[in-house]
Formats: sequence, structure tokens, C-alpha cells
Amino acid sequence: MLNIVVLVSGGGTNLQALIDAERRGEIPGGRLSCVISSRADAYALTRAEQAGIAGEVLRRGDFENQPAYDHALLVLLERYEADLVVLAGFMTIIGDEVIGRYRNRIMNIHPSLIPSFCGEGYFGQRVHRAALERGVRVTGATVHFVNEVCDGGPIILQQAVEIQDDDTPETLQKRVMEQAEWNILPRAVAMFCDGRLSVVGNRVMQINKEQREDAE
Ligand code: GRF
Repeated sequence: MLNIVVLVSGGGTNLQALIDAERRGEIPGGRLSCVISSRADAYALTRAEQAGIAGEVLRRGDFENQPAYDHALLVLLERYEADLVVLAGFMTIIGDEVIGRYRNRIMNIHPSLIPSFCGEGYFGQRVHRAALERGVRVTGATVHFVNEVCDGGPIILQQAVEIQDDDTPETLQKRVMEQAEWNILPRAVAMFCDGRLSVVGNRVMQINKEQREDAE
């Protein structure tokens, strides 16, 4: 059973999707063992508490620099014996040391079809506003492994969502969450915990049980 640690900063609806999926038995290979929030007032921490999951607060402002923050994060990840780290709306930068130590073991959910509307400055409703301004007819969400390039790591799952003529950034954000994010994030986590993901360069291949046994 793999330990999943979820990093959050806000409302935590993606965390809730993971909690619900675990409850339904859809993540048989893993358990949600800790939620770390970059804000003490994040509602995601209440969701964790209600689900009986340990909660921790790690605020960037309490640390002098990025290496000090990264060190504290690594200490927590080791304490909870994290096998997989999920960034579910985590708004704080994670340094290269953490990324290197957990190579292909940190996942992020981004609310667009990468490589569109991603990278520096593309977060929250800005992503959806940019999609509407560009006039694309299809957007969606992407789950990817985190590497040193912002939103540039290997892509695990994507799901498309059609844009409607009367969409606003708010309505689009809501539909992308409901139709894509809450679906693909738990699926990607379940696949990882089942050992079904194999990373080759920047590509993620899905492997079956026999292929996994051959590789071991
Ligand atoms: C989601 O849109 C996610 O894609 C982005 O941040 C948002 C988090 O929402 N990275 P929530 O806290 O999971 O409700």
C-alpha cells in the first residue's frame, strides 16, 4: 500500500475527489496519509480532518528562503513516508531539491490541455480567461509529473471539455473541474499506486501486470 501525501492551498475539491475515490475503493494500491497546506485557513484542511487524514501547515512566509522551505517539506514527506506527492491546487513553489528527490513521484493537476495555457502566470481563473480570449473551442485538464520546468513534466492523463458560447472564466472553471479534473486526478493516482505508469523520457506509458513483472 503506497502512502499518498496531498499538497493544497485552497478549497480542496480535487482533494475531495481523491477522498471520495479512496472511499469507493477506486485507489486500491494507495492510502491518503497526509494533507499539507500552505495556508492555515485552507478549507482543504477541514476536508482532511473530516476524512480522518492527518493535516499539516507549511507556510512559505515562515521560512527565510526556498531551501529552508524545501527542507521542511522533505522532513514532512519523510515523516509520512510519502511514496506519491499530489499537488492539488498547491500555490507555493517547490524547489529543485524536492523535485529531484521525488522524481516522477510528484503529480500536478493543471486546468488546461498542456501545452496550451500553461507555464509561468497561468493559474486559477487566468487559465480559463486566456482560453476564452484566444477563442479555443476545446479546453480541459492535464495530470502530469512535476519536473524543473513549470507545467513541463511528463503528461499522465488529459481530458477535453468543450467551450460554450456563453462561458465565463467562472463557468468554464467549474465545468473543467467537474468534467475533467475530478475524474482524471483520482484515475492517475490509482494508476500510479497500481504500478501501471512507466516514464520514458517525457512520455508516460501505461503498462500491464505482465510487463511490470518482466521489468522487476
Ligand atoms: C484546480 O483548478 C487545479 O487545477 C488548480 O488549482 C485548482 C484547485 O482547486 N491547480 P481545489 O482546491 O482542488 O478546489
